[in-house]
Order: sequence, then structure tokens, then C-alpha cells
Amino acid sequence: MSDAPRPADGEVTYGSYLALDQLLALQRPRSKPEHADELLFIVVHQASELWFKEILHELDGLIDAFERHEAEFALFRMGRINALMRIVSAQLSALETLPPQHFAEFRRHLGTSSGSQSVQFRAIEAASGLREPQFMEVVSEHGEIPPLVQRALSRPTLQELFLSLLASQQVDLESLFTGPRPTILFFLAEALLEYEQQFGLWRFHHVQLVERVLGPLTGGTGGTLGAKYLARTIDQKFFPALWAVRAKFYGKPG
Ligand code: HEM
Repeated sequence: MSDAPRPADGEVTYGSYLALDQLLALQRPRSKPEHADELLFIVVHQASELWFKEILHELDGLIDAFERHEAEFALFRMGRINALMRIVSAQLSALETLPPQHFAEFRRHLGTSSGSQSVQFRAIEAASGLREPQFMEVVSEHGEIPPLVQRALSRPTLQELFLSLLASQQVDLESLFTGPRPTILFFLAEALLEYEQQFGLWRFHHVQLVERVLGPLTGGTGGTLGAKYLARTIDQKFFPALWAVRAKFYGKPG
């Protein structure tokens, strides 16, 4: 028996504060007997969803900061969101240790579930600015658009918010890059672009993981649209105007 004092009833402890009894009871492999790799598969997905929750929370803060025209706070939020994106990308590496023959042994237990049904992922994409017809087709693929995604779609895109912040300070996009010294708005534009890149890196890492585990993309567990869509998503842009302006310095139309 441990000599550690028992917490008094109602006292907040590490375990109760973090609701660890509940949290650690939520990993429920379905294979019987349990496949040794199924826990890893569940944990990486669940951890990613927790980080998506936190990213959505930070995106709310970012949108508030933009709406109040607070460039410093927007930059602070962007720095954090970029750190979080690096974490979710890095987690995918753990699943690169899942050999195809092992996944094949428990894949049927996933039923029709597929990452393409991740409501939080779609809400992040929608909040960030995806509105293209192919995206709208994908968000409504599984029936009605979920309220979290609808809420994100009802707000301005990050690019619109950034451009209206610039307008409020009578700054145009091109002049961000031509002033005598970099301004906070310039660093904010760069942080937005870094977010776009981090997101693209997640997509690229994920496509590579999928091909490593399943072979060349033919179809996922969740239907046909998702797998074909995956490879095309890497070209989608949250901030086309921020990319276009960079070409102007070389005399190219943007
Ligand atoms: C063994 C690892 C994995 C495999 C084999 C895999 C497979 C797939 C496949 C085939 C798709 C296309 C949709 C479909 O037809 O099902 C997909 C989409 C997706 N997966 Fe994964 N995935 C893996 C890991 C993960 C992880 C760890 C996450 C983190 C949450 C994730 C999130 C997603 C998301 C968000 C989509 C939709 C992406 C988009 O539409 O742009 N996947 N996955």
C-alpha cells in the first residue's frame, strides 16, 4: 500500500481535475482478442480530435481579435495555432509504424467510420476559409451540415477578416511588403501564410501515411468521395490573395 495521503472527499486532485477516470476509459478497441495495434490507432485519432478542439477554440479567439481590429492579439493567436498544427502533424508519425498487414487485421472493426466524417476538421477548414463548391459537396456528404460547421461557414473567412483589418488601418496588401521596415501587419500576414503551409503539411503527411498503410489511394472506409478528394485537397488555399501578392514583385499578374 502507498503511504501517500488519500485526498479528502471533494478535494480537487490531478485525476479529478483532468477527469482521468472518464478520459482513460474512452479508448475501446473493438477487435477480439484485442489487436496489439488498435490502441495506438484510437489514441492518435482521439488525441488529434482533442487538438482540433483546441485549434477551434484558438480560431474563435483569432476571429474575435480580428473583429476588434487587434493585430497584436491576432498575431499571438496565430503563433499558438501554428504550434498546435505542428503537433497534430507530428502525431501522424506514430501511425507510420502501423504495418499494412496489421491494419488489415483490425480494419473491419472500424465499420463505416472514416476521418472524412470528422466534424471538427471540417469546422477548422470552414472557419479558415474554404467555401469552394467541392468543399461544400464534401461537408454535406454525410447528410445535413453539422451545426459546428454551419457556425464556421456563417462567419467571414480569415482572409476577409485580415483584409478588413488592413482596410481599417488604410493599408493595402502590397504596401505590407514595400514599407521601410516590417510592421506587425506584415508579421501577421506571414503567420497566416505559415498556417496555410502547416495545414498543407498535415494534408501531405496524411496522404503519405494513407498510401503507406493502404497502398495507392483507391477508396477509404467512408465512401468514394473522400479518397478521391484527398489528393486534390493539397491545392486548396485559405489565403489566395496573400499568395498572389507575392508574385507581383516579379511583374507577374496576381
Ligand atoms: C492508419 C492511419 C490512417 C489511414 C489509413 C487513414 C485513411 C484515410 C482515408 C482513406 C481517407 C479518405 C476518406 C475515406 O474515403 O475514408 C482519410 C481521410 C481523413 N482522415 Fe485519415 N487515415 C489515417 C489516419 C488519420 C488520423 C490520425 C487522422 C487524425 C484525425 C485522420 C483524419 C482524417 C481526416 C480529417 C480526413 C478527411 C481529410 C480531407 O477530406 O481532407 N486520419 N483518411
